[in-house]
Amino acid sequence: MKALITAGGRATRLRPITWTINKHLIPLANKPMIFYAIEKIAAVGITEIAISVNPGDTEIQKFVGDGSRWKVKITYIEQTGGPLGIAHVVNNARSFIGDEPFIFYLGDNIVLGTLNRFVEKFQREKLNCVLALSKVKDPQRFGVPELRDGKVVRVDEKPSVPKSDYAVTGIYVYDKNFFEAFTHITPSERGEYEISDIHTWLIENGYAVGYEEITGWWKDTGKPEDLLEGNQLLLTEMNPAEMVVEGEVATSAVIHGRVKIGKGTKIGERCLVRGPVVIGENCIIENSYIGPYTAIGDNVEIYNTEVEHSVIFDYVDINCSKRIVDSMIGQNATVLSAHATLPLGNRLIVGDNAVVEL
Ligand code: G1P
Repeated sequence: MKALITAGGRATRLRPITWTINKHLIPLANKPMIFYAIEKIAAVGITEIAISVNPGDTEIQKFVGDGSRWKVKITYIEQTGGPLGIAHVVNNARSFIGDEPFIFYLGDNIVLGTLNRFVEKFQREKLNCVLALSKVKDPQRFGVPELRDGKVVRVDEKPSVPKSDYAVTGIYVYDKNFFEAFTHITPSERGEYEISDIHTWLIENGYAVGYEEITGWWKDTGKPEDLLEGNQLLLTEMNPAEMVVEGEVATSAVIHGRVKIGKGTKIGERCLVRGPVVIGENCIIENSYIGPYTAIGDNVEIYNTEVEHSVIFDYVDINCSKRIVDSMIGQNATVLSAHATLPLGNRLIVGDNAVVEL
């Protein structure tokens, strides 16, 4: 079995963060989002993975490399022909996949737990396709299955009147009949080859499409608050064995709950860190409160500040005597108190599309 992961797209709603970083590299619980997909795929024993990237992209390659750190071989495939839908992305990878069955994983999806049950179901029941379904409040934003007698009878892409309250999540298993289905579908009104049309075609033409219902699924829908939610979910689920303190903690500092502190980090006097929290390497934190669901990257300095439910990227400096909540602070950003420099007042040098609430 092989695997294909998507890592393209423009993520315009996540600007300014995505001006300088592909959204699949945004750190969640201190790990680039796409690493979770690779880890899950490697954990089911797949060793050949392709990642679909935007034409000319080199950033994903730089971060992810050749896959050796997960003991897999990673190939990169540039998405040609423009944004023609995710079924087209799969078809574009046809020569990589060959006749093998494969997992197709949308890189902005995160599913908790392993992928074993999808693969096992696919093999045990000799299916042509397995879908992972999750109950959602807003099915009209997704591919929605119509279920009858425990079977999927069709899948509609973003229907205005959904036929169930399930979404088809972005983790799929297929055999080579995907490519047969692709030759029969045409672009939708939005000009895309829809993955949902592949599913409906397979079902209507007698192929076996099974499903598994899952909980613990998160998808980046392109808004910062979604990323914070993904960060929260991953922090909640982090393996307690990984939550270790490798840095130095001053005797007066208090660490509560599940907290990971990287090498070279110093938690100084008058600090309270209340987990789940991850703090990277070589950070300095003094006279500050770091509250639940916060992920802090490497080489960050935080003084005299409270931070909660936030994602702080690498090389950020914060010293502002304020409470920072529900925030994403990009690499190299500085957040200082208005009193630190004269004249008094709030001095802002923020990038295009930034959001600041003072
Ligand atoms: C895509 C698929 C949709 C699926 C979703 C899951 O939608 O078209 O069927 O439910 O991924 O992440 P998109 O995210 O491109 O809107």
